[in-house]
Amino acid sequence: MTELWSPDDIDHAAEALRRGKLVAFPTETVYGLGGDGRSDEAVAAIYAAKGRPSFNPLILHIADIDAADQIADLPHDARTLAEAFWPGPLTLVAPVRPGAEVSALACAGLPTIALRAPAHPVGQALLAAFGGPLAAPSANPSGRISPTTAEHVMAGLSGRIAGVVDGGACQVGLESTIIGFDDGAPVLLRAGGLAVEYIERVLACPVTAHKGGVNAPGQLLSHYAPNARLRLNATNVQPGEALIGFGDAPDAAINLSPTGDLTEAAARLFAALHQMDAIADAIAVSSIPNHGLGVAINDRLHRAAAPRDT
Ligand code: TXA
Ligand code: MG
Repeated sequence: MTELWSPDDIDHAAEALRRGKLVAFPTETVYGLGGDGRSDEAVAAIYAAKGRPSFNPLILHIADIDAADQIADLPHDARTLAEAFWPGPLTLVAPVRPGAEVSALACAGLPTIALRAPAHPVGQALLAAFGGPLAAPSANPSGRISPTTAEHVMAGLSGRIAGVVDGGACQVGLESTIIGFDDGAPVLLRAGGLAVEYIERVLACPVTAHKGGVNAPGQLLSHYAPNARLRLNATNVQPGEALIGFGDAPDAAINLSPTGDLTEAAARLFAALHQMDAIADAIAVSSIPNHGLGVAINDRLHRAAAPRDT
């Protein structure tokens, strides 16, 4: 049975994690499916619970820069970004320190590790109560829409994990932005909840997008998929469709942001997909401007609309 814990029950959740069990918890981006990041068994259980097709590397969640320094050698620009944006929706990929206590399975055999200090107070409280790094991909079955509420987590993973800590709806609503480093130069590995423009401003240099195949589940084309068919850049609603609108869209069944605010739209995106998927076989989506958080929103929408095998 999967328990639903309130933030007051954080000690029960931390105890379950210490016993090697899996606990879903809120972050400001999406809910994470957490397990002990030092334990190959716990990390293997995460892949099993998600039904992930392959062992892709996971993000390790830590409390702060000091905890990151125990695990990885942060390049100069990584430290600058961590100081500017942690805790927050930014993941940094850096070389693992020799002898660091990290599950090799979490790194999927790579010499680097992805690290993030989440800003959600309940996520931070869980990290403090547990006292170690938590490996945590988004808490959804592989290939499905990411969860932004405890109810979404329960709908996808109930019976497969020890519990969920309910911290309400996630504020950002999109996974973190992932930055790697190539000879010390920043590279965008995944657009996400922190607009790349902010990163470029702090580093005072352009951040190039990664070219070619990142070995990343977030990079699988058909990811974040609803059951319903998805039609993008819709300017009308066709019979049988429910419209997810943006800006002025009087026919919308749900509107990501009537005022055209991309931050509000990001926060509502996954919940809107979950909601429309439950009531319609076909979903149309208004076009979303491709700047700021719109880049990450469009990335997720294109993946959700991509042809799939199943
Ligand atoms: O917002 C988020 O980032 C959420 C919440 C729960 O924190 N987590 C999340 O984790 O989205 P996950 O496992 O779904 O995404 C991990 C991403 C993948 O695209 C993975 O390939 C990439 O991080 N990644 C992890 N380690 C990497 C590495 N060493 N090199 C390159 N990419 C890496
Ligand atoms: Mg995911």
